[in-house]
Amino acid sequence: MPGPPSGYDREFDDRFARRLAREYRRDGLTASAQLILDFAASVGLEGASVLEIGGGIGDIQLEALKRGAAHTTNVELSSAYEPEAARLLDEAGLRGRATRVLGVDVAGEPEAVEPADIVVLHRVVCCYPDYRGLLGAAADHGRRAVVFSHPGHGL
Ligand SMILES: C[S@@+](CC[C@H](N)C(=O)[O-])C[C@H]1O[C@@H](n2cnc3c(N)ncnc32)[C@H](O)[C@@H]1O
Repeated sequence: MPGPPSGYDREFDDRFARRLAREYRRDGLTASAQLILDFAASVGLEGASVLEIGGGIGDIQLEALKRGAAHTTNVELSSAYEPEAARLLDEAGLRGRATRVLGVDVAGEPEAVEPADIVVLHRVVCCYPDYRGLLGAAADHGRRAVVFSHPGHGL
């Protein structure tokens, strides 16, 4: 079976991760990430499980946990975010409610990832060659909702 697509570590590297973490610490969520979070909250975050595909440093997941989500899972193809993600989780005291999965492509290995109440993809669909496959896998994993953005629409 082919592995996950390669090149993501190079494209989304530790410099990119550090910049995202710096901006999140300084400004909180970006406007588009806030829209995603608010939409998820309108579906219902209290006690929910959240799966984020390509969630980077995990900023949306942190805010979802602060708003009552029971557990979050981040699935990423780039390993560059892990140090910043771990620091942010520790700072918030939320490490125990977050799972981080590396190198699994949900579109290629759907059975490797558990379903969740809410599935989130923020600025991810545009970075993946088979957007239909990815969104289809996301839909199969979301028990209540799939919330996603596409940068072409100002997000
Ligand atoms: C532009 S970055 C956005 C990161 C984060 N969502 C944010 O908005 O800060 C896109 C991310 O999606 C990840 N990605 C793309 N396709 C993916 C897939 N099939 N599974 C997991 N991660 C994926 C990439 O590794 C990259 O980190």
